Amino acid sequence: MSDTPRQRIFSGVQPTGNIHLGNYLGAFRNWVKLQDSFDTIYCIVDLHAMTADYVPSELESARIETAKVLLALGVDPSCSLLYTQSQVMDHAELAWILGTMTPMGVLNRMTQFKDKTGAGITANLGLYAYPVLMAADILLYRANLVPVGEDQRQHIEMTRDLAERFNNRFGETFPVPEGYIPETSARVMSLTDPTSKMSKSDPNVKSRILMLDDPDVIRKRIRSAVTDSDPEVRHDVEEKPGISNLLEIMSACTGRSVDDLVEEHADGGYGAFKDAVADAVVEELAPIKPRYQAISNGDVRAILREGGERARELVAPYTREVKKAVGLKGY
Ligand code: AMP
Ligand code: TRP
Repeated sequence: MSDTPRQRIFSGVQPTGNIHLGNYLGAFRNWVKLQDSFDTIYCIVDLHAMTADYVPSELESARIETAKVLLALGVDPSCSLLYTQSQVMDHAELAWILGTMTPMGVLNRMTQFKDKTGAGITANLGLYAYPVLMAADILLYRANLVPVGEDQRQHIEMTRDLAERFNNRFGETFPVPEGYIPETSARVMSLTDPTSKMSKSDPNVKSRILMLDDPDVIRKRIRSAVTDSDPEVRHDVEEKPGISNLLEIMSACTGRSVDDLVEEHADGGYGAFKDAVADAVVEELAPIKPRYQAISNGDVRAILREGGERARELVAPYTREVKKAVGLKGY
């Protein structure tokens, strides 16, 4: 046994329901995979969820639902710390400290913020400062690796930058974290518009596959996925975004390379190819629903309660150290 402490992993998800295949293949599958060899911490980020329109009385059921799906996907509370952000207000405290060191120009460049406001969402300060709170989440635990999908890459870059700024100004405190982003399926696209990413908030339910969808729904969604009229199966994101998306989904679900799949399906026609993609997705998601049904809300609450307590204990000395470093009272 070596004495080197295990590297720490941190990641988060908003409690907004509708966990879909993109979340799973882009991020949550890695959450599960990494928990065997790393010190893993997973957070349901309800403070982030407040930056969008939300109904207070629905937040608790959304937290429970999200945690239950994560547990069904295989997040194991006996080896991973699973809790909700609002149980540990140190997140908000560190976000304030980091906010005082974040240039407006950096926040103005954040594409997620620009996309949201560009889509007509009225911005509040919380939405603008969203990436600072995310940086605080990661740095609070001194995480080394952050498993996320491609859309979070820019936020991770900003977090790295803040860690370095802090260390330079106040002394070596935070490890500079790295994103852990899969090679394929880091950006799963919508089934109805393969030029935009699969998203929880798309009003068209046919655009996504949810974790608890029944096999016949999954097959229907994939059969009706938007493709093009040229019948050749090949990977070409520009010319054939729909087929390329399905190839990447199938590759992620089967572990086979895209090239290998293209070779097998190139001339077989879209119908047969889509059936094969659907079979692969159905098989990959099959264990989730029975596991979900076996978990009670009471179990989930107990897991989160204990996770929150452990998280608070874990971060207390870190927060004291940070406050002292920046000249606040850390006792
Ligand atoms: P969110 O649903 O935005 O809270 O995202 C939860 C996790 O899923 C984050 O790590 C995202 O990067 C990832 N994610 C969200 N949408 C996709 C997508 N379409 N493809 C791949 N990863 C995604
Ligand atoms: N911003 C992430 C998303 O939209 C969620 C998130 C919040 C997160 N805090 C985090 C992800 C810390 C990784 C690490 O998906």
